[in-house]
Amino acid sequence: MKLDIILLGPPGAGKGTQAKRLEERRGMVQLSTGDMLRSAREAGTPVGLRVRAVMDRGELVSDAIVSALIGEHLDQEQGSGAIFDGYLRTQPQAEALEILLEERGRNIDHVIELVVDEDALVTRITGRSSCAKCGAPYHDTLHSPKVDGTCDVCGGKEFKRRPDDNEQTVRTRMAEYREKTAPILPFYEAKGLVRRVDGMLPVQEVSALIDSVLDRAPASS
Ligand code: AP5
Repeated sequence: MKLDIILLGPPGAGKGTQAKRLEERRGMVQLSTGDMLRSAREAGTPVGLRVRAVMDRGELVSDAIVSALIGEHLDQEQGSGAIFDGYLRTQPQAEALEILLEERGRNIDHVIELVVDEDALVTRITGRSSCAKCGAPYHDTLHSPKVDGTCDVCGGKEFKRRPDDNEQTVRTRMAEYREKTAPILPFYEAKGLVRRVDGMLPVQEVSALIDSVLDRAPASS
């Protein structure tokens, strides 16, 4: 049976980091709208060209674009479940996801909110990089590769940084989260699906807490 979960939290909360770990350990598939939009930008697709300026300002891309992207990727998902990372951001996206899953006989099993101290997140984000080959996430001081300059996961030697990882854009992204994303939580609380995890703990401890949530029977079963 597939286990479908949403990871919620402000920029830098660790959604991408935890999603990658869940892929490695549980065979789930990360569906990150941020990654999908960045791929579209890099490929220079019509969608990529439309979203570039919005992303660089740290604002949200239109609901219609991201929901269409999620629908396409959900159909290709072959794992033991989907990890929605960065999707959802607005109430209309929550409603769109309900329909997308229902059409496929699926439903959300857990909404995991990573609870974090926003002041610490600017440091996390401005020091962040990822492997250019496999996307494994790193940080200059908080989580560097075991062997300097070599990706722990694939051995890649090149690392990249995101254009929206500067302090000014991060502040806008946080404001967008507070205004448009955090208000979605009551929608899932009413369904009994929200689990809160302390995202300020070390990465491995956050992973262990998420594992303990996923090992419990989902509310939907
Ligand atoms: P997106 O790519 O989704 O970015 P985000 O939500 O701002 O989140 P981040 O990826 O910055 O942070 P994260 O929580 O994944 O943290 P990470 O694991 O990397 O979206 C980018 C843009 O795309 C948006 O601004 C918007 O324009 C657009 N967009 C995307 N989805 C959209 C949607 N659905 N609707 C509309 N627009 C959309 O961790 C950060 C750093 O901290 C890393 O260096 C990591 O190594 C480190 N770290 C992680 N966990 C820990 C820990 N426990 N302790 C110490 N360090 C840690």
